[in-house]
Amino acid sequence: MRLSSFFLPTLKETPTEAQIVSHRLMLRAGMIRQTSAGIYAWLPLGHRVLKKIEQIVREEQNAAGAQELLMPTIQSADLWRESGRYDDYGKEMLRITDRHEREMLFGPTNEEMITDIFRSFVKSYRQLPLNLYHIQWKFRDEIRPRFGVMRGREFLMKDAYSFDIDADSARRSYQKMFLAYLRTYARLGLKAIPMRADTGPIGGDLSHEFIILAETGESGVFCHKDWMELDVLKDAPNVEDDLQPFFDQVTAIYAATDEKHDAATCPVAESDLVSARGIEVGHIFNFGTKYSKPMNAVVAGPNGESIPVEMGSYGIGVSRLMGAIIEASHDDNGIIWPDSVAPFNVGLINLKVGDAETDRVCLDLYGKLQAAGLDVAYDDRDERPGAKFADMDLIGLPWQLVVGPRGLKSGVVELKRRATGEKEELSVEAALAKLTA
Ligand SMILES: Nc1ncnc2c1ncn2[C@@H]1O[C@H](COP(=O)(O)OP(=O)(O)O)[C@@H](O)[C@H]1O
Ligand SMILES: [Mg+2]
Repeated sequence: MRLSSFFLPTLKETPTEAQIVSHRLMLRAGMIRQTSAGIYAWLPLGHRVLKKIEQIVREEQNAAGAQELLMPTIQSADLWRESGRYDDYGKEMLRITDRHEREMLFGPTNEEMITDIFRSFVKSYRQLPLNLYHIQWKFRDEIRPRFGVMRGREFLMKDAYSFDIDADSARRSYQKMFLAYLRTYARLGLKAIPMRADTGPIGGDLSHEFIILAETGESGVFCHKDWMELDVLKDAPNVEDDLQPFFDQVTAIYAATDEKHDAATCPVAESDLVSARGIEVGHIFNFGTKYSKPMNAVVAGPNGESIPVEMGSYGIGVSRLMGAIIEASHDDNGIIWPDSVAPFNVGLINLKVGDAETDRVCLDLYGKLQAAGLDVAYDDRDERPGAKFADMDLIGLPWQLVVGPRGLKSGVVELKRRATGEKEELSVEAALAKLTA
């Protein structure tokens, strides 16, 4: 992509309405535009990152055996009356009436709809276990949308739903998602800590929130200080293995949200306990037959008996993750994208547009880097070098390749790693070799 024609409306001024750094940087980098309170348009740069996050989430769900489908955003109120949640959900639900006076709603979540799809087709225990997911926009009329995409009213979520014949099998489905979540966050360059969370009236120990520690987080959290240094995936099993030992090992290290934490009963000595704030980037829980019973989602068991299925649901805040990644990875100059989700892999900076040799070398590099499968943002704008460097730091691409007439005279270009600031002068060929290695 040539920046001269790329729609990248960066801001020079710091937007005053943004209270946290990720929101400020997303606005300044021209990634999003608020269209109503808590509702955002995703501009090309933001959209590229959103798609990359989404794709990593998708790959890890697929690897764990979940199957993607796509349910609509608009749902019928009738389904929610069956589960009893139509009245319970309250003002957070955006209710809509269609031209025939039918009551509809913009889905805040999909337990009812997926249960309806399930019961329409699945009749036998032999068709289980099953895990279905989609990545779809949700609407929740949050009383206080804030922090940009972190707490929006319209937001993108991955939500998966598991169906099992009994509690043991449901536990296994839960553990698969637990592992898939850890892998997903690791690929996004994040350290997410699974924390025991409130299960509500159903009880049990099968609910975890995945939390990124950050001062700007909305949740108060507590964890053992061992979590700070820990890489839980170092000895992680494969998804087909027995996951119980891994699950037990990871969950034995204390971590709980403030709703679950109780100083009086906490097993960790005060000196070993970290009290911090965190961002909830995922939430998984097993809720047994909470929906299958009232909605009559039953299958025939081995002896023909009718069994309500055991269910779980598993959410990841895809759009919130973008804010969380920036909270975790930025400096005074801007965003520092992890390679896995960067909107472009390389920013190619032409220091003197119009200088024949500089233009020629840049175009050659641009073509070769793209041919090697890299996404390249080629800054061919007629701007001062200082402005180009500042914009490149702001949008946070992992590599900056700087080409100018002075360097070319001595046969070199400059390669900068955004995360470390490390710069290196090398030949055009060596730069290409390093970036495409
Ligand atoms: N208003 C929101 N804006 C952005 N992301 C959200 C919002 N609400 C929830 N999410 C994301 O979706 C995930 C699943 O949501 P869920 O646990 O059902 O919501 P909540 O914790 O608000 O009850 C959360 O872990 C979070 O990452
Ligand atoms: Mg939650």
